[in-house]
Amino acid sequence: MDLVEEYDSPLYVYDESTIRSMARDFSGSFSNAYVNSRVSYSFKAFASPALAKILEEEGIGVDIVSGGELAVARMAGFPAGELNFNGNNKSRQELEEAIAYGIARITIDGFPEIDLLNSVAGEQGIRQPVLVRVSPSVDAHSHRLTTTGILDTKFGFSIETGHAELAIEQAIEAPNLDLRGIHFHLGSPIFELEPYTEAIAYVMAFAADMRDRYGLELHEFSPGGGFALGYKRDALPLPISDYANAIAEALRAGCDAHGFDEPLLIVEPGRALIGRAGVAVYTVGAIKEIPGVRTYVSVDGGMGDNIRPALYESEYEAFSVNRATEAPDGQYRIAGKYCESGDILINEASLPKPKPGDLIALPASGAYTVAMASNYNMVPRPAIVMVADGEARLIRRRETYDDLLATSKV
Ligand code: LLP
Repeated sequence: MDLVEEYDSPLYVYDESTIRSMARDFSGSFSNAYVNSRVSYSFKAFASPALAKILEEEGIGVDIVSGGELAVARMAGFPAGELNFNGNNKSRQELEEAIAYGIARITIDGFPEIDLLNSVAGEQGIRQPVLVRVSPSVDAHSHRLTTTGILDTKFGFSIETGHAELAIEQAIEAPNLDLRGIHFHLGSPIFELEPYTEAIAYVMAFAADMRDRYGLELHEFSPGGGFALGYKRDALPLPISDYANAIAEALRAGCDAHGFDEPLLIVEPGRALIGRAGVAVYTVGAIKEIPGVRTYVSVDGGMGDNIRPALYESEYEAFSVNRATEAPDGQYRIAGKYCESGDILINEASLPKPKPGDLIALPASGAYTVAMASNYNMVPRPAIVMVADGEARLIRRRETYDDLLATSKV
């Protein structure tokens, strides 16, 4: 309540100790299961220089997908040796910037990128370490819009169609590329272990084939991210250590079966690392009761700061901040303030009957919320604070109308 008084609403509040404990859960679980492993946080879930600093202190790498995310990492002075670059359509400029910064590795995802990257690396006089992203045709049973490992996807070279083989052959032949290994990402959130283990077995067999035919050396191996997050108490994911054990076991089995030395294992968690550390806080405004139907409770944010319910029918829970001790007396539909019928944050939230001015918190709002925020309806994006040791500090101020107009001309 004090934070909203100071920084206004809506407000995103991140808890530093949760970030650190999740970072340690990931690095500890994976290094226990497989010593030669590396955690590379997927910056797209929430990118901020303050977060980059914390991750650096925790020994976690960062996986970027654009020149803009690189700029955020650069602002924090994040070490280039701990950066990866993913993405299905990187521009020449983005590749030039990344290589100039000294990025550790770039995951190739498309035929034009092989030539482009080879020429950019050549111009900068280096041999760039790369991975090739393959698509293993495994369905991870996530939402249609967040599934990426299947045949019909824009991501990755398909093993099934023979394109992955062609890409490996070309990457090995490119003089300025140093092919370090193979990457895939199945989609997200993934609540089961089987998609990972199935895909690892398949991709390791493919890697063995590529070694036998083209001399592929498997120094590095990445099954991407996609680890699930508990958005609601009745849909909790498996512990991170279960994912780590299953992935490590499958990778080791693949190495044994095909005679590989154990490669460096790189995992790219996004939501599971950052999601629980962020809480969105909104203020209740208009309330519309439709007798016999339902009550709409409108808050001062919505799809502009969290488009996930509208885009993926994602579900969140809500808590009353100022009336936390009161028992819920019914179900209320939490609507946003944007001019769009689909701007609903929660279809049925259990709350004590909301009143204008109440503060409502949505836990587990740290991933793909402010990261995907827009200025729809010309609404300024919210402020973000980081809480640590009982102190809050502003890590991104609320946008102003001047910010919104800064790029426009009459
Ligand atoms: N690695 C790669 C190559 C990815 O494409 C992604 C996510 C990740 C790692 C991290 O996935 P995570 O661990 O965060 O699930 N906006 C959507 C998610 C899009 C994910 C895109 N790629 C959402 O809000 O659910």
